[in-house]
This record gives sequence, structure tokens and C-alpha cells, in this order.
Amino acid sequence: MHISFHSTDTDHAIWLQDFQAALPTVQISTWQPGAAPVSCAIVRNPTQQFFDEQPQLATMFNLAAGVDSLFKRQFRSSVNVVRLEDSGMAVQMAEYVCHAVIGHFRGLGQYQSDARQGLWQPRAPKDRSQCVVGIMGLGVLGQRVAKALHGFEFPLRGWSRSAKQIQGVACFAGDAQLGDFLQGVQVLVCLLPLTDATRGLLNRHTLSQLKPGAYLVNVARGAQLVEDDLIALIDQGHLSGATLDVFDTEPLPAAHPFWSRPHISITPHISAITLRAESVAQIASKIHALARNEPITGIVNNQMHY
Ligand SMILES: NC(=O)c1ccc[n+]([C@@H]2O[C@H](COP(=O)([O-])OP(=O)(O)OC[C@H]3O[C@@H](n4cnc5c(N)ncnc54)[C@H](OP(=O)(O)O)[C@@H]3O)[C@@H](O)[C@H]2O)c1
Repeated sequence: MHISFHSTDTDHAIWLQDFQAALPTVQISTWQPGAAPVSCAIVRNPTQQFFDEQPQLATMFNLAAGVDSLFKRQFRSSVNVVRLEDSGMAVQMAEYVCHAVIGHFRGLGQYQSDARQGLWQPRAPKDRSQCVVGIMGLGVLGQRVAKALHGFEFPLRGWSRSAKQIQGVACFAGDAQLGDFLQGVQVLVCLLPLTDATRGLLNRHTLSQLKPGAYLVNVARGAQLVEDDLIALIDQGHLSGATLDVFDTEPLPAAHPFWSRPHISITPHISAITLRAESVAQIASKIHALARNEPITGIVNNQMHY
């Protein structure tokens, strides 16, 4: 078997070294323009030229959980795109979202601001039963986040495409139940993939249906949020703030209004980082399974997502 490795990220050499160590009997080479076409590739932010030169590609492993940037490229719909599933990201996402939800619920941002002014100002505890957390996307990451939040006894709701039954989570599905899901939510967490159906979904219309004073946590993709609508709803007092890890333009431009907003917490797309050892092990095990003609999980059906 010959696998082509193509990453436009700066640390590609160390990834290639680890893949070669995990698959010693497989020939893996860094793709160069003009290289012989292959049937299997491992990619991260690939160029269009790579696809233009791959008429035989059958399976492509993407070094990320999200595949939205990959599908901006043109390639044959018969190619099986395999995404990362968890591979150490789910627990990171659970940590990040719990931190954001608890920070909002306990008013920790306000206490930090008080402390900087030398203020000792305890506030009355809030009623946990009124702090409904709504998770959009009940996939690998959304379900792990729900499990972690369940441990803190927040009332939980989840929304997905297909109907689900998850212990401790009131589940809603499909566009028809989106309104019922949003009504009364205090903290909205977005963990949806970016598709035509989810682009711009966090907008004035949907966010206005949350409880007054609600809080947004977007850890999925920046293009799912209409940024001006978020600013307007915070200014109007309908939303109390947001924790944002992802943005329409990344890195977030220096002049972007989010930077100067005290109620918006910003991190640079780090809520769940791709971990090398876990990702290499997962992909290597799937390559071994394919070699044995066994089925693998994580294949993204382009038609379903776009
Ligand atoms: N910020 C970061 O560092 C970071 C890191 C990793 C991933 N991410 C983002 O997180 C996203 C989710 O990852 P994942 O591994 O949890 O994905 P996943 O397992 O594919 O789960 C996606 C969930 O979204 C639901 N969904 C998809 N389209 C929908 C629609 N139109 N309406 C309602 N629900 C819809 C799916 O519903 P069904 O279950 O019914 O199919 C599923 O529950 C990724 O796509 C990526 O963009 C961000």
C-alpha cells in the first residue's frame, strides 16, 4: 500500500514521522506536485492542485473532526472522506464548555472584574434549575459535553438532525423542533458541523428565542454565527454575553469589534486541539482495518453534509 501525505501546516514533518512509525509496512510519502497518483491519502488543509492530480483517490483521511474546509475543494464525490472521531478532542471540549457554562452560571467574570477594582462583593447564588443548557449537535463532541455538564446537575437539552435518547438530556430533532428547543435556554452551546443548513444558524431570529439574559458558547465554526446579530442582541440586553472559540475570519482581525467587548470572551480556536499521538493511532488502526477489508467508522457522506 502506498499512502500520500499532504499537509500545508508547518509541522507536517513530525506528523509524517509518526505515521511512518505507526505503519512501518506501508509506504508513506509526502505529496509533491507531479507525484504518482495514489488511492489513499492523509491530508490537512490540502491544496486544490493535490486533488487535480489524484484521479485514483478512493479514501482520504482528514486530520480534523470538521470537514467543512476540505469540501471547499473540488474532488470526486466517490472519494470516501474519513474524519477524526474524538481522538482526544472530546474531553478537551468538555473541559472548555464546562468552564464557560460554569463561569457564566457562577458570575466568575464579574468577580474577576470586581477583584481588579479591589471590590469584595459576594452575590446571591442563582437557581441551577433555571439554568437550562441547550447543546446544538449531539454527535461525538456534543454527547461528551452533555455527559460532563450532567455531572454538574444543569438541566440539559440537545438538538440534532435525527431523534435521540440520551440519559439526562431532553432531546429535540430537526427544524420543526428547533423553536421548542431554544425556548427557555439560558446557555446555548453550538457543536454543529458547518454545512449549508447550519451556516448563519446562530442569528437574530434564533438567538432572540433564548431566555432574556442568555449566554452563547460557540465552539463549532465561526460561520454559524451572524456576528453583527450577536453584538446587537448584547447591546439590547437580550443576551448577557458569549464565549467564542471560532470566528468567521481566523485569526480574528485586530480591528474586529469583538476584541473590545467586555462581555465576549475570546480564545484562538483551541477548545479541542487535534492531538498527534491519538490521531495517528486512530488513522493507523483504520488503515489496518481497510487492509483487512473491514468496515470503518467516521466516513463523511458529502451529500448529507452539503
Ligand atoms: N473549536 C474546535 O477546536 C473544534 C474541534 C473539533 C471539532 N469542532 C467542530 O465541532 C463539530 C462537531 O464535531 P463532532 O465530532 O461532534 O461531529 P458529529 O459527531 O458529526 O456530530 C454532529 C452533530 O450535529 C448534528 N447536526 C448536523 N447537522 C445538523 C442540522 N442541520 N440540524 C441539526 N443537527 C445537525 C448531528 O445530528 P445527527 O446525530 O442526527 O446526525 C450530530 O448530532 C465539527 O464539525 C467541527 O466543526 C471544533
